[in-house]
Amino acid sequence: MFCTPALAAAAQSSAMAGQPWLNPKLPPEERARAALAAMTLDEKLRLVFGYSDQAMTDLAKVPEDIVPADLKTYVVTHQVKGSAGFVPGIPRLGIPDQTQTDASIGVRNSFIPSTALPSSLATAASFDPEVSRAGGAMIGAEARATGHNTMLSGGVNLAREPRNGRNFEYTGEDPLLAGTMAGALIDGIQSNHIVSTIKHYAVNDQETQRTSLDVTISAEAMRQSDLLAFELAMEKGKPGSVMCSYNLINGRWGCENDYLLNKVLKHDWGFKGFVMSDWGAVHSTADAANDGLDQFTGFCCVTDKPWFGPNVLKAALQSGAIAQRRLDDMAERVLWALFAKGAVDEPVKTAPIDYAANGRISQKAAEESLVLLKNDGDLLPLRNVKSVAVIGGNADKGVLAGGGSSDVTPVGGAIMVKDHTYLPSAPLTELKRELPRARITYDTGADAAAAAALAAKSDVAVVFVTQHDSEGYDGSLTLADNQDALVAAVAKANPRTVVVIESGGAVYMPWLDQVPAVVEAFYPGIRGGAAIARALTGKVNPSGHLPISFPATPDQLAHPDLPGLGQPNETPAQITYDEGAAIGYKWYDVKGYRPLFAFGHGLSYTRFALSPPTARSDGRAIRVTFSMRNVGKRAGKGVAQVYVAPAEWKKAGWEAPRRLGAFAKADLKPGQIKTIEVTVDPRLLATYEAAGNNWHIRAGDYRLTVSEASDAQSQGASVNLPDKVWSAATSGE
Ligand code: BGC
Repeated sequence: MFCTPALAAAAQSSAMAGQPWLNPKLPPEERARAALAAMTLDEKLRLVFGYSDQAMTDLAKVPEDIVPADLKTYVVTHQVKGSAGFVPGIPRLGIPDQTQTDASIGVRNSFIPSTALPSSLATAASFDPEVSRAGGAMIGAEARATGHNTMLSGGVNLAREPRNGRNFEYTGEDPLLAGTMAGALIDGIQSNHIVSTIKHYAVNDQETQRTSLDVTISAEAMRQSDLLAFELAMEKGKPGSVMCSYNLINGRWGCENDYLLNKVLKHDWGFKGFVMSDWGAVHSTADAANDGLDQFTGFCCVTDKPWFGPNVLKAALQSGAIAQRRLDDMAERVLWALFAKGAVDEPVKTAPIDYAANGRISQKAAEESLVLLKNDGDLLPLRNVKSVAVIGGNADKGVLAGGGSSDVTPVGGAIMVKDHTYLPSAPLTELKRELPRARITYDTGADAAAAAALAAKSDVAVVFVTQHDSEGYDGSLTLADNQDALVAAVAKANPRTVVVIESGGAVYMPWLDQVPAVVEAFYPGIRGGAAIARALTGKVNPSGHLPISFPATPDQLAHPDLPGLGQPNETPAQITYDEGAAIGYKWYDVKGYRPLFAFGHGLSYTRFALSPPTARSDGRAIRVTFSMRNVGKRAGKGVAQVYVAPAEWKKAGWEAPRRLGAFAKADLKPGQIKTIEVTVDPRLLATYEAAGNNWHIRAGDYRLTVSEASDAQSQGASVNLPDKVWSAATSGE
């Protein structure tokens, strides 16, 4: 009988109609179980082995006893060209392919242009989860519209190591801020009925020797720092998948780690989704499967070891090295995520993208994230300037973006300078738009003397400095290419000098005392130039606050030497995180160091006044109430930060004298006042005790202060808390 593909599909879908796993009214657990029960062994095996985009060209060379011919053909014909990875679905049962795209800043597909958000660290500086959620919703919609139903997005590794080349992909140094912002991003992405992937689990806090570094850290320190950021993000964002990391943690690979995957993630946090490996992060078959890995992802080339290849897993099942129920659990977890997040009920379809509207979302995120670090004499916003010297940073071309798997192909085209991506939003062009009557002249900054001469004959000089960071290596905090000397020379020639920094994270500023105004823009995304120009000219009132501390000097770093630096890749290396959970401002507090700029710092063109707080315990959490008033002359957004301090932090078992307990951002007109109530999560008052797998609040007085930065003076309130112990195992979703 002659049967067209459309007829075949219709016949198939009518055969499937009525199958319980396709009934959206049933809970995802039930649907996953029913689908699993209908699957053959080969179908289960399909769901747990993924292919990278390179496989498209290399797969033909892979022997057929590893990947059978029909599967090869399926992968090559169904994968979204240019994306990160692919896991074949089961059309017979209506289970979709998993089409995977990086990453937290936008859809990365070498053939499809997309809208780049500001870096995740920049968005964290907004201190506004709504900004993060809106960005996530936008990039998730672009993922859908480009045929991807899985985003590899939700980077939440803490900025423990200020030089980490991927800090720009993460959300800062504090577990509460990082977890809240990453959770909101994931929530936004998944509002598009697709799966998002929190990563890189866990303690993958430096890039140097990332695939061979063994991190030694206590369970207590992990649960109070890196893992707490994951825990909070997972509660808020409920990602369908978790990506395990390249490194070893206490001697066990991230993707073969019973403690992290089975005990903490699946047992204690009740995670029902699946653990996918980072690309190339798997080292075994049975150990990885039994220690918690559910899906090998990113199989690439003939040279790759197919640890979860269909025939390899079959052999492990036959020998009993992996139990059938474990394979079933692996497949069921993948199915659960696809059902729970809507990927089965709302299959992705390619559709046109409104890049202009999405660009506005990215611009808003940048405008909420720019951090005004210094503004002596209110040099900013620029007013009545007749001439501006714009210097350096390729400000005539665009704004810098980070490298690696977050480096999206921007709509409008990337501008490559020395192999670094600049997004096409030139601050120079945008400043000219904002200041149509001023004479604005650009100098590349290549010759400091020439730049200084231009600055000397201008009303104001704006120097752009850039620091490129990327996946794969750690950066330096010292600006490259003599940019420090450039700033110093320009500042000497014109005391009215503004510095705009585009960096992945913190940088040193040896010239800080010589310049009155500094703006930290991080990597500000596809409309970053417009956001910067609008902030410099006052159309936008800066409201970002630092999500990381800026060290003043190298001797303030917890680990001045990066282990394995300069060695060939994959050289075994080891680091002991003996600072434990004392990361960032907590480390500075313990040591009594004064950073260059403190966590939470950020100025505005207006001023805010915070009332003394009142605090009460509701038996579970602490509720803190205070008011914020705009006491300046412009509308603006203030960020209030609640810090908690036990009367005696060592006696309370804390890693440091203070922790961020809550934060809130308020939009206020001049004179306007708002009452704000926030809640401090009990885990932020407690210590983790490994012996009993408990959280424990020690009885005593706890002081709560509200301020606009971690180093600001503030008034406080005290609460007395009774001793309290509870299990660290929660029920999950
Ligand atoms: C990165 C991941 C990324 C994956 C797929 C890896 O190198 O570490 O973050 O999702 O590649 O591109």
